[in-house]
Amino acid sequence: GRKVILDSDTASDDTIAILLSSRLFDLLGVTIVAGNVDYDSQVKNCLFSLEYFRCSDVPVFLGSKRPIMGQWRTVPEVHGKNGLGDWDYPEPKKIPEKEDAVDAILRLSREYDGELEVLAISPLTNLALAYLKDPSIATRVKKVWIMGGAFSRGNTTPFAEFNFWVDPEAAKIVLDAGFDVTIVPWEVTEEYGVIDTETWKKIETMGTKLSEFFVRANRTLRDFSISQGNPGSVHPDSLTVYLAYDNSSVIESRRLRVDIETCSKTRGGMIVDWYSKENANAEVVLKADGKKFRDTLLSILSSF
Ligand code: BDR
Repeated sequence: GRKVILDSDTASDDTIAILLSSRLFDLLGVTIVAGNVDYDSQVKNCLFSLEYFRCSDVPVFLGSKRPIMGQWRTVPEVHGKNGLGDWDYPEPKKIPEKEDAVDAILRLSREYDGELEVLAISPLTNLALAYLKDPSIATRVKKVWIMGGAFSRGNTTPFAEFNFWVDPEAAKIVLDAGFDVTIVPWEVTEEYGVIDTETWKKIETMGTKLSEFFVRANRTLRDFSISQGNPGSVHPDSLTVYLAYDNSSVIESRRLRVDIETCSKTRGGMIVDWYSKENANAEVVLKADGKKFRDTLLSILSSF
């Protein structure tokens, strides 16, 4: 299978991204970064998820506990206070690795030179720090998939999507580093990554251990998404992992110049030059096959 690292601020949909990447890829490790909820809860959520999914052998590496600059706020209103819909799940037995996430990313980029892909579904702090420590990583990583950015409606400020808003400097560093990048922006996930009420009900009545996990972990996310006017829960992270796996589900994308605003009220905003030509630095996904994503998710959730 394709060798991947998943970089995650593990809360609700991140766990489903962990599930999909463990089933669709050779998941070499999950690296944890500051973002959605408090750091220790994120780590616990990740360890518990891997145990529950029966892939305890996937190592978890601890990375940056804060963004490179400035303050950020966590979003318990989106994911629940513990990030997993306040599910009081049993204490995981699994423990994180001693090796730091930034070092693990650099080491794996050497071990799998030209092969490693990074699925970044979180603020980009860990990857930016890895690049700053050793810029040659950009030539070794085959591909970076990023869930982040909004070009028309930010979900955290009017301009900014959460992941880019938490660490705009990291996003800028990663985008300027010369990686082969594909971005799945917020708007695309809100349109094609929704688990509507009908699909949610199917999952609720499926009766597998994984479907039960899905419902418990994403209950608060669903309430929040609906309160924002969506027809169901929005799953940006798992959609991104799915599109990374099945490129044919990307229906429309464009190579464009993307920059990140780091100042003032528009901090974290993604600036897209829609007319860019030779200076393009990212492939931006614009349309995707949401049905294929949902079908694959349902089939994985039905497996046990
Ligand atoms: C992003 O922010 C997080 O809350 C989600 O997990 C996703 O990565 C969406 O803006």
